[in-house]
Amino acid sequence: MNETLKVIKERRTTRKFKAEQIKEEELQAIIEAGLYAPSANNQQSWNFTVIQNAELLEELNIEAKAAAKNIPNEFMQKMANNDKFNAFYGAPTIIIVSGNEEGMMSHVDCAAASENMLIAAESLDIGACWNGFIGILFSSEKGKEYKKKLNIPEDFVPYYAIVLGYKGVRVTSAPERKANSVQYIR
Ligand SMILES: Cc1cc2nc3c(=O)[nH]c(=O)nc-3n(C[C@H](O)[C@H](O)[C@H](O)COP(=O)(O)O)c2cc1C
Repeated sequence: MNETLKVIKERRTTRKFKAEQIKEEELQAIIEAGLYAPSANNQQSWNFTVIQNAELLEELNIEAKAAAKNIPNEFMQKMANNDKFNAFYGAPTIIIVSGNEEGMMSHVDCAAASENMLIAAESLDIGACWNGFIGILFSSEKGKEYKKKLNIPEDFVPYYAIVLGYKGVRVTSAPERKANSVQYIR
């Protein structure tokens, strides 16, 4: 198996991080990987907001959990009501990924960029978690306030975040992949 295939297969969601900040050159390499993703009609309809301020991360964690308490979903409410649950698992960096509301396929462009960033992180032995939880905050009334506070451009919609940091745990086993997801017609 070549190195690319190995990294893709070995990437796992990290849910425990060291507090130590990742190096600037590592962050820039991960962002560059995101920027080099394919996009519909080359619109590059993404926008990234890097947050490395510990106080703001804690504030976003608290606000996302508060917003999740109003979601009619038992699993979400359980997380929201768990004092020990940190939406970012103690990671020192998050990248909020926002899509241009005028884009042809902004959700898809952003997902391609996000996966590129996850793969790039794994290639550098940096842990990463695709974090949809913060999306609950941005979908709530308070989300508008945070969109402004975080300087997310007006014509962009914040979807989710990529959480990054040095691995506090090494996950070696992958959740089982569903069978019968591929049909061949030859
Ligand atoms: C759109 C999306 C949103 C996700 N949101 C979260 C999240 O909020 N919190 C979390 O811990 N994991 C989240 N994940 C990670 C998935 O739970 C994880 O990818 C899945 O369980 C498979 O595990 P693996 O990434 O190790 O292969 C998300 C993944 C995707 C693609």
